Amino acid sequence: MALLVSNQVKNEELLSKRSRVNRNPDFLSKNYLKIGLNKYDSITNSQGYINLGIAENRLCEDIWIKKITEISRSPNFVSPDLLYYYQFHGTPELTETMSRFIETRFGSIEQIQQDKLVFMDGVAAILNGLAMTLADPGDVFLCPTPVFTRIRNYFLDVGGVDIYPVPMFDVSSSDDPFRMRIDILESYLQKAKKDGLNVRGLLLINPNNPTGKVYTSTELQQIMIFCKRESLHVIFDEIYALSTQGQGGFNSVLSMDILDPKRTHFVWGLSKDLGLSGFRCGVVYSQDIEIVNRLKQVALFQAVPSPTQKLINGILSDSAWIDSVYFPAYYNKAKAMHTLVKEVLDELNIPTPCSGSNAIFIWMDLSKFLKEPSKEEEIKLFNRFMEAGLFIIPGMEMFSQFPGWFRLTYTLPEQEIREGLRRFRKVLMQGRNLSD
Ligand SMILES: Cc1ncc(COP(=O)(O)O)c(C=O)c1O
Repeated sequence: MALLVSNQVKNEELLSKRSRVNRNPDFLSKNYLKIGLNKYDSITNSQGYINLGIAENRLCEDIWIKKITEISRSPNFVSPDLLYYYQFHGTPELTETMSRFIETRFGSIEQIQQDKLVFMDGVAAILNGLAMTLADPGDVFLCPTPVFTRIRNYFLDVGGVDIYPVPMFDVSSSDDPFRMRIDILESYLQKAKKDGLNVRGLLLINPNNPTGKVYTSTELQQIMIFCKRESLHVIFDEIYALSTQGQGGFNSVLSMDILDPKRTHFVWGLSKDLGLSGFRCGVVYSQDIEIVNRLKQVALFQAVPSPTQKLINGILSDSAWIDSVYFPAYYNKAKAMHTLVKEVLDELNIPTPCSGSNAIFIWMDLSKFLKEPSKEEEIKLFNRFMEAGLFIIPGMEMFSQFPGWFRLTYTLPEQEIREGLRRFRKVLMQGRNLSD
């Protein structure tokens, strides 16, 4: 006991106040290690964990291996410049290529100003950089919920900036349970102020993680009007934008009249739409040069390595390949996996309010499989999935107001999806205490 106390005192002394703000690893990190040590493999570890929890797109491995091999073996790829310092916030070649890519793919109504693009090693790093650049420790960003767990860590762990959850999930709504409600934003802004918090902005994920909700242009415009009126920054994280599979309906903020350009920030990355989460690459487009310059300073510490930038440039500059090979293959496979999952969910009468394949996961209501609607029961169900070797994410870890919701990723190889669904169904059938 004496040893424990002295250790505690020591830890307080060892850590800065800033690094003590959030000492708890997030839900995903806590489970990731466990799952990683016992990963499913149909041949070598058939009892291992199937990970339908992490939002990863692993549908086009073979296509990527071929493309990356081809680029890295091309005559000029390995050159001495890869050995030395470079423009950390984006090489001129990649910056030029990315601006064209964004203009084309996001329907940008204005030409992208290349000096206002900043690259960092992942959207996580970009959000962390934005938090540090736009807000002070203790400040908050409004954030409609449910929302992906780790978003909070991106803001808080280094920047000391928290998100202020704004519950925007109306289960009783039959048309759109995730409709943007400016009146709710307004009341939470006032509530935060009453709590003595300095609200610096709003973070919107579009398409949303975990719900898959795609915001209409009217909703986006309402957000911009609200943020401009309240002098709030607004970050549009569009990391899933190109996974809407050419279905239409998705509107990038860049395709709209931006009402307060100095406070509006567009974010995208390669992890989801291209399935290259290991490349660690995110990009932010902001129009205020002072903010951009600060972000470039941050990028010094979180740069995408130069060989990776060169590889990405090789990929993104080959628009013909992206249009004729990558996207058609990705969309076909994603649609097939979505159908496979949706069929099982429909058969089990599991509600999926945004059931279109708008992102790479499905948000579903498993509340009828709980003994009672509580967080404890939700975790019990989660644990039963884990015991069956299946990892999916419980909604209350994603700030859901209602227990029993889960997020399941479907952009994995078919064999893993099938095995995952088999385990999923087995768990639900075993604990069947259903009214339907
Ligand atoms: C909405 C959202 N933003 C950012 C990230 C982090 O992406 P990256 O791999 O680029 O750091 C994720 C990852 O799941 C995400 O879902």
